[in-house]
Amino acid sequence: MISPILLLYFVTISRSIDVPSSAPSNAITIDPALLSLSLEFFAFPGYMELNNTAPCLDHLQFLRGQAPAVRIGGTTQDRATFNATESMAVRYTVSDPTQAPASLTYGPSFFTLASTLKGNVTVGLNRQLNNETNSLEAAQYALASMPNLLSIELGNEPEFYASGSPIIPPGQSWNPTLDAASQQKWHEDLGQVSNKSLGQAAVYLSPPTWGTAELIPKIPNALSSIISFSGHSYPQSACGGASTNLQALQSHTGIISYTSQYKVEAAAAHAIGKHYFLGETNSATCGGGGISPTFGAALWIMDYSLQAALIGVERLYFHQGTIADCAYCWWGENIVDGPYYGAAFLSEALGIDGHSVSMLDNGTDSMAVYAIYSSSGVVLRILLINTEYFDGTGTRVSTTVPLAGLKTTNRPDMLSAKRLTAPLANSIVSANGSSPITLAGQSFDGLCSLTKNEVIELIPVHNNSVSVSLQASEALLVSLQW
Ligand SMILES: *[C@@H]1O[C@H](CO)[C@@H](O)[C@H](O)[C@H]1NC(C)=O
Ligand SMILES: *[C@@H]1O[C@H](CO)[C@@H](O)[C@H](O)[C@H]1NC(C)=O
Ligand SMILES: *[C@@H]1O[C@H](CO)[C@@H](O)[C@H](O)[C@H]1NC(C)=O
Ligand SMILES: *[C@@H]1O[C@H](CO)[C@@H](O)[C@H](O)[C@H]1NC(C)=O
Ligand SMILES: *[C@@H]1O[C@H](CO)[C@@H](O)[C@H](O)[C@H]1NC(C)=O
Ligand SMILES: *[C@@H]1O[C@H](CO)[C@@H](O)[C@H](O)[C@H]1NC(C)=O
Ligand SMILES: *[C@@H]1O[C@H](CO)[C@@H](O)[C@H](O)[C@H]1NC(C)=O
Ligand SMILES: *[C@@H]1O[C@H](CO)[C@@H](O)[C@H](O)[C@H]1NC(C)=O
Repeated sequence: MISPILLLYFVTISRSIDVPSSAPSNAITIDPALLSLSLEFFAFPGYMELNNTAPCLDHLQFLRGQAPAVRIGGTTQDRATFNATESMAVRYTVSDPTQAPASLTYGPSFFTLASTLKGNVTVGLNRQLNNETNSLEAAQYALASMPNLLSIELGNEPEFYASGSPIIPPGQSWNPTLDAASQQKWHEDLGQVSNKSLGQAAVYLSPPTWGTAELIPKIPNALSSIISFSGHSYPQSACGGASTNLQALQSHTGIISYTSQYKVEAAAAHAIGKHYFLGETNSATCGGGGISPTFGAALWIMDYSLQAALIGVERLYFHQGTIADCAYCWWGENIVDGPYYGAAFLSEALGIDGHSVSMLDNGTDSMAVYAIYSSSGVVLRILLINTEYFDGTGTRVSTTVPLAGLKTTNRPDMLSAKRLTAPLANSIVSANGSSPITLAGQSFDGLCSLTKNEVIELIPVHNNSVSVSLQASEALLVSLQW
């Protein structure tokens, strides 16, 4: 992998990857809901009305054997007021459908709607407006109506609360210590109401200053009321027209370096027996930028999620924002977008039987290689992601990767593989729903059904080795057991 040998103008051969005979001791157990979703608070009922939301969630559940978890929250959770006599799930007005409301109210049917989700649900409630009675009243409705309720957040990214926010004590400037005191009190009170560990705390975007490791020692009285800590993570910013870079987003070495900052955060939560999640994440802040709907973002989702898992993040909740204005969304009205292909391909790679994962490459070049193991340590599949960027400039280089030491069953002479590909890293699904991205030859239509015939590749095995080839910006899933 380190020094590719230039064979032909457009083909390189990487150093051989030794596939372990069984799961190594550094293999990491993968949560069945590693790939989960975050739905913006005010938009949640709208998502439930989209024709493709249920089929897109069901397809991931079909591939992975467990429904993705859903977190309902975001900026608008801190603008929302509960009204127990409100008949609608949410009530707000906006002058333009691409805008998020500046304030909104919601009623009990918000929680009955959330109770229909098949996976674990986290609900984000308001702290910014400083009406604890109102948020705890909402929490009681959630507890009473949602058997799938995993946790409740109290406030979203509090480091960004504007001066003058009701939660900020008059005359004081908001800082991590004041916020920690507030989080401790509110989570203790939520624990009193629920009589269990229900809180998801931290919910910060800016570690380490605003981070889980910094927060934990400051909230000893609330720990028994807390089940998990959440960090928010966006590798790039698209706020105020900031420029984004797809080559940097999908870079394997860049992903390894970026995710490493969450290692101490996860370790701090685990040290006190709590879960650590990236409770809201996506490619770029402020709804995403031009890079966000691309095929390269699908490659990023796979490598980023596995790197996060390797450093201790149990779940990643990919954020879905304003329905009519969401570059990074996995699906929208009558369309399934590029990033969903990454979620589907990784779900298939992990599968129903995938229990743990290890990285087989050295993390020093663009070829990411992961092995997926069963609960008894059998090597099930190898996922290769060639994160080398190709946007149509120059020649698309193909890299051949020898995989050695394979132990196969059933068909020792042949392995099967599926390929995730597109013409370019920056290929996107057209507004009419037609997709240049294919997953084993197939594409999703606007209702999240696969169209076209499946293409399975057969790879001959010689002396317990195979050679597989991936073009720049492409992924391949090799199955060892079939
Ligand atoms: C990883 O690095 C080690 C030591 O430098 C080397 O022996 C090995 O071949 C490398 N493996 C890959 C897959 O590049
Ligand atoms: C959902 O699908 C139905 C039938 O295919 C269609 O009539 C309706 O307009 C769709 N709704 C949305 C919100 O796309
Ligand atoms: C609560 O909702 C009901 C029904 O929409 C409305 O009549 C009432 O004014 C609302 N209460 C508050 C405090 O907004
Ligand atoms: C919900 O989360 C809990 C705790 O992580 C887990 O034990 C359970 O299997 C999950 N259930 C579903 C349906 O995801
Ligand atoms: C806070 O919420 C409670 C109950 O939900 C409500 O009765 C009260 O008026 C609210 N307080 C303020 C200051 O808005
Ligand atoms: C709270 O939970 C504990 C242990 O789960 C239980 O013994 C106790 O009765 C509960 N209290 C209330 C008020 O529900
Ligand atoms: C959809 O749009 C793409 C490009 O925007 C175009 O090439 C394609 O022909 C369109 N397909 C249909 C079925 O209209
Ligand atoms: C088979 O593979 C082993 C181990 O990788 C190697 O030592 C041996 O030379 C190979 N044999 C042939 C015939 O290629």
